[in-house]
Amino acid sequence: MQKRPKIGIIMSSTRPGRFADVPTNWLFNIAKGRNDADFEIVDLRDYPMPFFEEKAPLHAAPAQNETAQRWGKKIASFDGYIFVTAEYNRGIPAVLKNALDYLYLEIQRKPAAFVGYGGTGAARAIEQLGQILATASLKFSVHIGMTEMMGMLREGKSMADYPYLDDFAKRMLDEIVWWSNTLKEGRSRSEVAKAA
Ligand SMILES: Cc1cc2nc3c(=O)[nH]c(=O)nc-3n(C[C@H](O)[C@H](O)[C@H](O)COP(=O)(O)O)c2cc1C
Repeated sequence: MQKRPKIGIIMSSTRPGRFADVPTNWLFNIAKGRNDADFEIVDLRDYPMPFFEEKAPLHAAPAQNETAQRWGKKIASFDGYIFVTAEYNRGIPAVLKNALDYLYLEIQRKPAAFVGYGGTGAARAIEQLGQILATASLKFSVHIGMTEMMGMLREGKSMADYPYLDDFAKRMLDEIVWWSNTLKEGRSRSEVAKAA
């Protein structure tokens, strides 16, 4: 039997005073209660990469920048991803796009799920992420919208005041774990096929 999958929870915002910690920690607390996968938070603040300045795109040559190499190794260690994304100007934060430009093989044949927060629950950013990743992007996203964000930012509420979001998170986690397991198994079979 294969080992349980490892799933990275990727934060999309690095600015001081970011809201990102609230949904990320909420999700992590729910996820770590499961016994069918291991979860780890990946904070882009720990990978301060320059705007992409490699001599070649990463499908042509490995990254030269040391932080980008460390980032690539970390991302490669996961079987699936959950992106916790803000929405900046109807798209994903530039720091996340830049970090994704520093990846290539590391995320291939692996699934991605999404938690978005913002006016429309970051629906537009999540749609973009699906296009950018061009990998198995899952349908069951969690959207933390204007009502919930304003409640937390202005009325002293917390994620616990919106228990229906826990239900959405559980459904999303069920899906990402299933896909992570399934594609992990598929990747291991294709490696065997390659070696044969
Ligand atoms: C540069 C910038 C652009 C933004 N554009 C949008 C947007 O297009 N849609 C939206 O719902 N919120 C937008 N917002 C508001 C963010 O949803 C809100 O600031 C959120 O807290 C950002 O996430 P963060 O605090 O983790 O960085 C924008 C915020 C910033 C800083």
